[in-house]
Amino acid sequence: MINKTKRNGTAILKIKGKTIELPIYSGTDGPDVIDVKSLYAETGVFTLDPGFTSTGSCESQITFINGEEGILLHRGYPIDQLAENSGFLEVSYLLLNGELPNQAQFSEFSHRITQHTMLHTQMDRFFLGFRRDSHPMAMLTGTVGAMSAFYPDSMDNTDPDERRLASIRLLAKMPTLAARIYKYSVGQPFVDPLNELGYAENFLRMCFSIPAEKYVSNPVLVRAMDRLLILQADHEQNASTSTVRLAGSSGAHPYASIAAGVASLWGPSHGGANEACLRMLHEIGSVDRIPEFIARAKDKDDPFRLMGFGHRVYKNYDPRAKVMQQTVHELVSELDVKTSPVMQIAMELERIALEDEYFVEKKLYPNVDFYSGIAMDTIGFPTDMFTVLFALGRTVGWVSQLNEMIEDPAQRIGRPRQIYTGPAKRDYVPISKR
Ligand code: SDX
Repeated sequence: MINKTKRNGTAILKIKGKTIELPIYSGTDGPDVIDVKSLYAETGVFTLDPGFTSTGSCESQITFINGEEGILLHRGYPIDQLAENSGFLEVSYLLLNGELPNQAQFSEFSHRITQHTMLHTQMDRFFLGFRRDSHPMAMLTGTVGAMSAFYPDSMDNTDPDERRLASIRLLAKMPTLAARIYKYSVGQPFVDPLNELGYAENFLRMCFSIPAEKYVSNPVLVRAMDRLLILQADHEQNASTSTVRLAGSSGAHPYASIAAGVASLWGPSHGGANEACLRMLHEIGSVDRIPEFIARAKDKDDPFRLMGFGHRVYKNYDPRAKVMQQTVHELVSELDVKTSPVMQIAMELERIALEDEYFVEKKLYPNVDFYSGIAMDTIGFPTDMFTVLFALGRTVGWVSQLNEMIEDPAQRIGRPRQIYTGPAKRDYVPISKR
């Protein structure tokens, strides 16, 4: 292991009459690791861990989660402090560079981002190839991958300048892409970025301003949108981030690797859960139907799961869900809208689930997707845009993790092995003899 780990003992493995020693390393916080790199060479056996419940894929200095205590740190800073005191662009600088920026660094970074918010004008024609009712995530997966056709001067992973430019372009253009996808799906004209506005405000204006009306930003919505992006920015080696790292490990250019991450995020077990959760809350429809759905979630023969609940790592309350819930309450009170029936169902569902022994025993708590859909719905987005908004926040995490991997001297192409249980070697049988 390299970089910042420190040796912390040795694991002894006795296997097939052989005893081998495997080094144990400690990081800054969290579980120690056993370095099994030499296992196959020394013993001829692989490890097997589908779903990677006990397997680390890399060393990282970006984000740390303590699932037992419900703690999430970005470069050491707790998520609730960042959500309260920082802004998405500042958190993006932190994730990308490792430290909070001083004023000069932040101004330079913000300026670089605003210089790249516009899309190549030919990309607008790209949208016309989609049906109007295409799922927004289908359009995002396609258009992010297509960026490689428009920005060929920032595709070489081995060139730090090209990689930096690709990172800035992805962070700067995602809001423009996401807004165009929304506008295309509602049949309204595209709105170009206005660089005098902040990141979240610029995005909301590109989504919700129309030529026929003077657009006035709502600071409450801007603050809520900015906080939503912070809460979704990065989260260790989740499925989509691991997808980005694996894609990038082959040397695939940044736009291809991030497009792979977008595709992986779409799944309902991952980033698609916010959309699935709101649909579930609408399906529940009223507080008195909650017990019926709780029963279904507990029924082993029913594939139904309570969307927005449970997490591979958090066995306590997801700290992001807490901040997300506070954000929804702020939106409701400051916009002076009455708590939506869906929010009432969500809060009652949470209350009942957290008292139910099935959920308590399996440590199933609300995750980031439980309230994020309600927040996005309150801001005014349609349900099928929710995962696009998740991708908008997560892009900086994907890019930061991709850069960290490429800069890691120990990095090699990711190529997992397997245990084979298919047919043993056999000879071909001509069709006339089958
Ligand atoms: C995200 O990894 C990340 O960091 C992801 C993320 C990020 O920021 O990148 O945090 C974002 O993806 C959040 C998760 C969003 N997904 C959902 O809300 C979908 C609903 N949740 C589940 O599908 C599930 O909880 C997962 C996918 C999130 C976690 O799956 P695991 O870790 O593989 O857990 P599991 O499926 O093995 O479940 C353990 C047990 C099972 O019961 P048993 O087989 O032990 O009897 O808990 C049960 C499951 O049936 N269970 C649920 C449940 N989630 C787990 N039962 C009912 N409802 C649920 N939601």
